[in-house]
Amino acid sequence: MDKLIVEPSGPLSGEISISGSKNAALPILMACILPRGRIELTNVPHLADIRTSCKLLNILGCQTSFENGTVVVECGDLDPHAPYELVKTMRASVLCLGPLIAALGEAKVALPGGCAIGARPVDMHLKGLERMGATFELTEGYIYGSCDKLRGAHIVLDFPTVGGTEHLMTAAALAEGETILENAAREPEVADLANFLNACGAKISGHGTSVITIQGVPSLTGCEYKVMPDRIEAGTYMMAAPLTGGEIFLRDCPFHELESVVNKLREMGVGVEETPEGVMVRAAKELLAVDVDTQPYPGFPTDMQAQITTLMCLAKGVGTVEENIFENRFMHVMELNRMGANIKIKGSTAIVRGVDKLAGAPVMASDLRASASLVLAGMVASGSTEVQRIYHLDRGYERLEEKLGAVGARIRRVKG
Ligand code: EPZ
Repeated sequence: MDKLIVEPSGPLSGEISISGSKNAALPILMACILPRGRIELTNVPHLADIRTSCKLLNILGCQTSFENGTVVVECGDLDPHAPYELVKTMRASVLCLGPLIAALGEAKVALPGGCAIGARPVDMHLKGLERMGATFELTEGYIYGSCDKLRGAHIVLDFPTVGGTEHLMTAAALAEGETILENAAREPEVADLANFLNACGAKISGHGTSVITIQGVPSLTGCEYKVMPDRIEAGTYMMAAPLTGGEIFLRDCPFHELESVVNKLREMGVGVEETPEGVMVRAAKELLAVDVDTQPYPGFPTDMQAQITTLMCLAKGVGTVEENIFENRFMHVMELNRMGANIKIKGSTAIVRGVDKLAGAPVMASDLRASASLVLAGMVASGSTEVQRIYHLDRGYERLEEKLGAVGARIRRVKG
């Protein structure tokens, strides 16, 4: 397995361009099962999960090509079977279940297992599809779903699940009649998926709010669509400037979609300035501790929790990080403590006491965002940090060592 060797870096300075959003592209790719005709997606990041999604679409009967940030999809005769070997490597593939039922009246999709950060059940996805008339059988690790024609329904979600909202919105696009999703997720990636589906002829409104209305249509057609920029990649790189005492310009950086992260950085004394081309981030004169609670959008994103925890390790004072979305998303904490951080976990809260410095060490990545937080820590630690199992990182960050290297970070990949 590859690993990254991270040496003391900085102060970082220069410009980083933000890539297209992984968490927008993945549900959009699963929705590509529905339209008839050629679909061209641009600004798609070159990531392992995108390649996995294209592989799944091939297995389901779609032709795909992926080069220079452009994915072209054309679906032929669909096959209803999404195999476990593939679904186990990428949970988001379960989002093909609803579209397959909408397109074929049946689907056999492996039930995604849990992952490092939590059990991640899909009960709300299935309950919503049942409200639309689908029936399911769970046997031997597979979900067998069927329904001659999905019908619109009024669905109130128990929790604003991002994947659940995306799944039901996509399936409802071809259902008979009107579907109303209440307590829907408001994440920008949900809105990007809705914009893609509308570009294919769907009739979706209210996306970005907690009530989304979908008028079913008989069919969808191919389109050309540009994926939104990745706000979590951008937020990750925002941390690199204050950590190393430098300043970084993030080109094509979403600003409004990162308001909760920007507010916390400004509370810590970090300079964040929006410009028409992107966002300038400048180190704080003195980094101050803050309290962070992860919440559904527009609250502070759980996908930025590990990264701001790293920054808080070196802040003056004591801060807290409450993880309210996933049950096991503090695995980076033990690794940060091995680098000299002073973090105690009490239930779903991490208490972070600022220290003067971190020391490099061999550390283990456990999930995508934890990996990024360890790379950030390695740049500011004395000595060398070896981040192992970085296949997690390759799932969600396009050319991370190249992008950070271009602003002065000393990171090299060792092929394992
Ligand atoms: C999406 O995951 C993102 N993944 C995650 O990003 C992100 O952390 C998460 O939304 C929250 O913002 C993609 O978009 C591909 P949820 P998703 O359904 O859809 C529970 C990353 O690092 N739940 O909003 O799986 C669930 O267990 C990844 O890029 C149920 O109980 O998130 C979790 O505790 C990590 N039953 C909470 O809700 C359900 O049916 C939020 O899950 C569905 C979810």
